[in-house]
Amino acid sequence: MTKYIIIANWKSNPDAPGRAAILAHGIEEGIQGLRGVEVVIAPPFPYLLPISNVIKKAKLGSQNMFWEDVGPYTGEVSWHHLRHIKANFVIIGHSERRRYCGETDSMINKKVKAALENGLTPILCIGENERVDNDIPAVVGEQLRHALAQVKKSHLKNLIVAYEPVWAISTTVGAVSDTPDNAFRALVYIRKILADLYGRKLADLVRVIYGGSVNAKNIESFLLEGKMQGALVGGASLDPKEFVEIIKKASEC
Ligand code: PGA
Repeated sequence: MTKYIIIANWKSNPDAPGRAAILAHGIEEGIQGLRGVEVVIAPPFPYLLPISNVIKKAKLGSQNMFWEDVGPYTGEVSWHHLRHIKANFVIIGHSERRRYCGETDSMINKKVKAALENGLTPILCIGENERVDNDIPAVVGEQLRHALAQVKKSHLKNLIVAYEPVWAISTTVGAVSDTPDNAFRALVYIRKILADLYGRKLADLVRVIYGGSVNAKNIESFLLEGKMQGALVGGASLDPKEFVEIIKKASEC
């Protein structure tokens, strides 16, 4: 297993397929020869297939997935569709989906189980809405416990948990951003819950990563001081230079 995983969450960007292809090319070129980092690109659904033809070193991820098999589920995408185009990762429970699309803990739990049972690696997003100084609110633990209800021990090695405090996502200059100290507190908290649920040895198989305004300037602090095993990167993944720089820094950590 590589040391770190860096995941590009393009969200609903860019606006045209040509720009998506240029972006993917830029990332792919920039990461040739880099070691110790696994790179995943998660574009919007319509770009998954074209991007899968562009990338070789980077891997493909989806931003969402339905929990049911193929069938009468208008507007949904199943694990079958993702597996066929070699998208092996899927972001599940992102705060924007919880907020704008009404995703509940129970829906997220079904998606996590469907992904794990069908050979996909879920990137389960959890995180509190409001900042609480020097503390990780209990809601983070509740989200984690709900999402993992009935998840089998044998599947843990394929699970990634992304701690994304909602207040630290997409912050612009001047807004509150997170500290590696807080990220480390979250890591300890998440690992403790995983150990309560599955025992320390199995809990250690789960990769825990950080998301929230990660850029080339702060990535090292989240990896080295925050002890995170990677990052889920939104805004900064839309600039190939910046994103490649993040990956280079991670490969040197
Ligand atoms: P951001 O987004 O890097 O733009 O804060 C991260 C995310 O929402 O996954």
